[in-house]
Amino acid sequence: MPFTANRQFKASPRLLARASGMHYWTADGRQILDAVAGLWCVNAGHGRTEIAQAVARQLETLDYAPGFQMGHASAFTLANELTRLTPAGLDRVFFTNSGSESVDTALKIAVAYHRVRGEPGRTRLIGRERGYHGVGFGGISVGGIPANRRMWSAVTLPGVDHLPHTHDAAKNAFSRGAPEHGAQLADELERLVALHDAANIAAVIIEPIAGSTGVLIPPRGYLQRIRQICDKHGILLIFDEVITGFGRTGSAFAAQEFGVTPDLMTLAKGLTNGSIPMGAVVAKKSIYDAFMQGPDGIELFHGYTYSAHPAACAAGLATLGIYQQERLLTRAKTLSGAWESAAHDLRSLPHVLDIRNYGLILGIELEPLAGKPGARAFEAFLRCFERGVFIRTTGDTIALSPPLIIENAQIDQIFTTLREVLSRG
Ligand SMILES: Cc1ncc(COP(=O)(O)O)c(C=O)c1O
Repeated sequence: MPFTANRQFKASPRLLARASGMHYWTADGRQILDAVAGLWCVNAGHGRTEIAQAVARQLETLDYAPGFQMGHASAFTLANELTRLTPAGLDRVFFTNSGSESVDTALKIAVAYHRVRGEPGRTRLIGRERGYHGVGFGGISVGGIPANRRMWSAVTLPGVDHLPHTHDAAKNAFSRGAPEHGAQLADELERLVALHDAANIAAVIIEPIAGSTGVLIPPRGYLQRIRQICDKHGILLIFDEVITGFGRTGSAFAAQEFGVTPDLMTLAKGLTNGSIPMGAVVAKKSIYDAFMQGPDGIELFHGYTYSAHPAACAAGLATLGIYQQERLLTRAKTLSGAWESAAHDLRSLPHVLDIRNYGLILGIELEPLAGKPGARAFEAFLRCFERGVFIRTTGDTIALSPPLIIENAQIDQIFTTLREVLSRG
C-alpha cells in the first residue's frame, strides 16, 4: 500500500465504501466528514454526478484515443478551458496522469528548452529542502523529504541542489496567513547561482505552499524574490501547484494569489476533482515556441500512453464547469476567516507547537512523542476517524484541506472533534 503502515492497516483496516458531498461512508456504514478532500483533490466534493455522467458518455463514444501522432477534440477543449484559468501567458498544456508525472515532465521540458535554444549546459535543477514533488526519480531528486530519498540516495539525479526550506518556528509560529519573516531566504538562490554558475542551471522548482512536509506557507515577499533572481539569471521557475491549484488558496492558482507568475506549473489532483487520474504541465508560450523552431518532426520525445485520456478529459471539463458555475475557485477566500479563527482557537491545547493556515489549508504541528516521531499525530488521526472526521497527518503535523464546498457547520464539526482529541493530550 502506498505510504501506509501495511501491518498496522491490515491488523485494523479502514475501508471506505462510498462518498457524497463532504462525506465518506466506511464499509461498516459509518459517516465520516472529509477534512482533506480525499488527498487534496476532491475540491468540488464527492460524488458529482456531472462528472460521472460526462465520463460515462465519453467512454461510450470514444473510450480511448492514442495521443502519439493522433488527437481528439476534448483534449484541446480542456487545454483551452484550463488556460482560461491559469495566469496570463501560461497557455500551453501537456497532459500527464499524475502529479509525479507532471513534475518529471516539467523538469524534462526545462532542460530540453535550454538545449533547443542553444544553452545545453543548463542542466542543473534546484529544488528545496522539505519540498515534495511526487515519487518519480526526478521528483525525489528535487524533493527534500529525507525519508523519500534515503533508500535511493545514490541513484537520484545528479546535478541537483536544494534551497533551504522557509519554516522558521522561532520567528513565525502561529502566523495567520503568510508569515512575516523569511523573505531573505530567497537570496540563498543567489548563493547557489554563484556556486554552480547560472549558465549551468536549468530551473528552480518549488511548491508555493509546501503541503506534504507539514504545510509551509511562503514568507511575505519570498516568492517575488525567487522570481526576480530567476529572471536575472535566465533560470526557469517551476511552481508545483499540484495541491495549491484549483482554488485551494482562494484564487484559481497560488501564482495568482501571491502575484508571481512562474514559467511552468505542474498540476494534477483537483484538475478532475480526483475522479480520474490526470495531471498537466502548463508552460509559457515562449517555451512552446522554442521547441517549434527546429526541423519538422517530433519536437519533444516525451509522452504517456494515457496523456489526455478521453475519460480524464471529460472528467476535467466537467470539473472545471462545476468550479466555475459554483464559484468554487474563490470560495476559500470567503471561508478562510472562519477557518483561521477556529484553527487558532486550538492554540492552547496540550502539545500544540504551531498552527499555520492559508486559504482552506491548515497545519497543526504537534510536539513529537519522545523517540516516536509521527506517533502523536497518527494517534490523533485514529481518534478523529473513530469520531467521524477524516484528517491527514504528515510527520507530527495535522494537515487539513477540506473540499471547497465545506459549510460553516462542518468547519465547527472538524474543530470541535480536534479539540476533543487534542485535549486528551
Ligand atoms: C506538490 C506535489 N507535487 C507532486 C505530487 C505528486 O502527485 P501524485 O501523487 O499524483 O503523483 C504531490 C502529491 O501530493 C504534491 O503534493
